[in-house]
Amino acid sequence: MCVEVSVVVPTLNEQGNIVALVERLESAFSGIEWEVIFVDDDSVDGTADLVRKIGATNRRVRCVHRIGRRGLSSACIEGMLASSAPYLAVMDADMQHDEALLLRMLQVLKRGETDIVIGSRYMEGGTIGLLEPSRQIISRVASRISRWVMKTECSDPMSGFFMLSRDVFQSTVRKLSGIGFKILFDILASSPRALRVRELPYEFRTRQAGTSKFDATVAWEHVMLLLDKMIGHIVPIRFVLFSAVGLLGLAVHFSVLAIFFRLISLNFEISQALATLIAMTSNYLVNNVLTYRDVRLRGSGLFLGLLSFYAACSVGALANIGVASYVFGAGEKWWVAGLGGAIVGGVWNYSVSSVYTWKMFRKA
Ligand code: GDD
Ligand code: MN
Repeated sequence: MCVEVSVVVPTLNEQGNIVALVERLESAFSGIEWEVIFVDDDSVDGTADLVRKIGATNRRVRCVHRIGRRGLSSACIEGMLASSAPYLAVMDADMQHDEALLLRMLQVLKRGETDIVIGSRYMEGGTIGLLEPSRQIISRVASRISRWVMKTECSDPMSGFFMLSRDVFQSTVRKLSGIGFKILFDILASSPRALRVRELPYEFRTRQAGTSKFDATVAWEHVMLLLDKMIGHIVPIRFVLFSAVGLLGLAVHFSVLAIFFRLISLNFEISQALATLIAMTSNYLVNNVLTYRDVRLRGSGLFLGLLSFYAACSVGALANIGVASYVFGAGEKWWVAGLGGAIVGGVWNYSVSSVYTWKMFRKA
């Protein structure tokens, strides 16, 4: 019998929820051929082991175990790509999403007039249960902003609970950003055509076991996702952030230079050298928590990464001076030459640090 619907469940330390969720799916889908694919990002609590153990005797249960990677959205994408069912659902492992909705979602999709069915907390009849007030505000503000970049109207674009047909997923998958926590929003904003949405209200329940993974990183990644959807087709979003941090570094450089040279009256060369070192270091640290937050370096990796960043930037500085001198020598205005050098140096620094610094030292 062919599997009709695959439920993709991203997991990060959800060991205490797996057994109960499988049982609930079992009863929610009676009479339907279904499977569940847990996509686990190498949880330390043994989630993947447990899923494989259940899967050894229950062929409906599968595990995609990802090592060295993180992210709710990218996990969902890989889970959906790992299945071949004609209908795909995404839901959380912690039982906050009401599994009783799944069958109705499937029925709606099967009628063929809808591309995607969304479980909504915000429409008439839905509730956000006991979500803390601060999270409620963040969720509503995020929904409001996100509507600007979406092609479709819907009351809960931040929902993590939905079902869509394989065709719709396949037609969107190459356009997805795969950044952050909000796979539904990514799909709605990336689809080449406005999707026909149907929403079903449900009560967002409280978590059963384990803890929420929502934190500052998740919020920041959503900002990255929004930027990516707005300008990512023109220039890589990390490059935009890297350049913005570079401008900030310029301000740091001049402030430090002014302090050492004018205020403390150190000699110019030493002041300039110190200003360069401090600006480079602060650029590195700011990029590490913003631009590369998802692959942030820590501990010894943070230190080795810094050394590699110095090395990359030194070559970048030489390229900068070389290009600027050449352009200036060719008779261009001083600021054109300066800008040209800065751009070449910046692109160099970005390229090298992105493929070297923030890749090499992650496991150091
Ligand atoms: N594989 C993987 N990788 N799974 C993850 C990751 C990750 O980096 N981060 C979180 N998860 C899993 C969790 O284990 C859980 O099953 C699910 O994603 C949701 O994480 P929670 O930490 O429970 O998120 P939440 O309750 O704050 O928010 C969820 O529900 C909202 C309402 O539908 C998310 O799905 C939100 O996107 C959604 O808006
Ligand atoms: Mn949750």
